[in-house]
Amino acid sequence: MKRILVVDDERSMTDLLGIMLRKEGYEVLSAGSRATAADVLARGPVDMVITDVKLPDGDGIEILRHVKGASPETAVIVMTAYGSTQSAVGAMKLGAHDYLIKPFDVDELKIVVRSAFERQRLSEENVLLKTEFRTRHGLDRIVGNSPPMTALFNLVRSVAPTSSTVMLSGESGTGKELVAKAIHAMSRRKEEPFVSINCGALPETLLESELFGHVKGAFTDAYQNKKGLFEAAHRGTLFLDEVGETPPAMQVKLLRALQERRIRRVGGTSEVDVDVRVIAASNRSLDELVKAGQFRSDLFYRLNVIPVRLPALRERREDIPLLAGSFLARFTEHMAKKVKGISPPALERLMRYSWPGNVRELENVLERAVALETTEEIRPESLPEGFLSSAPAATPALEEGFSLDRYVAGLEAEMLERALSQAAGDRALAARLLGITPRSLRYLVGKHGLGGDKN
Ligand SMILES: Nc1ncnc2c1ncn2[C@@H]1O[C@H](COP(=O)(O)OP(=O)(O)OP(=O)(O)O)[C@@H](O)[C@H]1O
Ligand SMILES: [Mg+2]
Repeated sequence: MKRILVVDDERSMTDLLGIMLRKEGYEVLSAGSRATAADVLARGPVDMVITDVKLPDGDGIEILRHVKGASPETAVIVMTAYGSTQSAVGAMKLGAHDYLIKPFDVDELKIVVRSAFERQRLSEENVLLKTEFRTRHGLDRIVGNSPPMTALFNLVRSVAPTSSTVMLSGESGTGKELVAKAIHAMSRRKEEPFVSINCGALPETLLESELFGHVKGAFTDAYQNKKGLFEAAHRGTLFLDEVGETPPAMQVKLLRALQERRIRRVGGTSEVDVDVRVIAASNRSLDELVKAGQFRSDLFYRLNVIPVRLPALRERREDIPLLAGSFLARFTEHMAKKVKGISPPALERLMRYSWPGNVRELENVLERAVALETTEEIRPESLPEGFLSSAPAATPALEEGFSLDRYVAGLEAEMLERALSQAAGDRALAARLLGITPRSLRYLVGKHGLGGDKN
């Protein structure tokens, strides 16, 4: 039952309101002064205060301030005498839900009270929505609404609350780290640490002491005991980035730690239990690394509990306008520039490009474009050089001397060159960009004499 406090120094008024509001089903308390109102409020919360503006020991505005300060969700309605609407307006500015001008009739009172409660209910729901929004916070930094991204979001939503190990795969710049953080932010561990380590960045011995810690004197530089990242991530999430690069000897130790969920510091004698959720990421296919004998298959299976593959940007080109728009908004704000949009020809170039560096590359291209742009729209001129030449070659005139073979061979060579340069010499990637097998690529490179010294 909703509780309403009525404050008025005229006893007939509080009595009347009491009768009418009780008939409506509310519980009604009353006070004849500011001081008694304060006493009543101190005894317990009320859902609404209806107060006269003029009171013998102060005014209703002070009650309004007091109530809004102590419990902002309590609705306040002020009553004023005819001719002093000015104070009613002032009260509204301070957060009153509504006002009643005396004398008012019963229906008016009912309407005002009901609508104030209705608004209160809506704002409570709003708070709930916001809380839910906050728990979803993790995903709203990730832009995309293409089918592969929608599928990814659904998968992330369902695995996040579990403690299962997640294996993220995807090319460089596809958002693996972003997704790892989102999973943590949406998990029950979200208040606990998210600790990340790049397994490929450290030599074996250092990596071991980073992960597991060491005791004083364990090796030359171990001047004191040090906690490892497994311990630091206790109750939280440990992100093993570039896990495919883990040196072989460490792979065994990592496997053991993951199996037992307990670790031993380097040089230590006792073991400690750790409660960590592991998320691993790799931009090289672990599958292939296993086949090539560079990654232990037992560790692979231990990590690959829930495989999550992040699509390359070129597999979801329809997200490019959305992503570009969000980066544009971010960079124009950071750089305080007035670039409002992306011109259609520039957008067309962005859509056509193959994005070997994925979202990170798009982010960089937009940053550069915003910095360089002098007009209100990103023009193709503000994009890197490669984007300019990606305009289709003018179709040659068909006249004597034209050779279809030569023309097609020229196009073929141009595309090969572009793919090789975008892939920075990574032939497997170049072949993927062209949609051909590595074997065909080798053949075509030889045919066009583009070999250089690599093979
Ligand atoms: N879907 C996305 N929406 C918005 N920003 C994204 C998205 N995907 C990636 N990014 C941004 O692109 C950049 C690269 O993302 P991230 O570091 O997560 O990639 P990664 O897959 O870990 O790459 P690498 O394998 O090179 O480490 C970051 O700045 C990230 O914020
Ligand atoms: Mg990364």
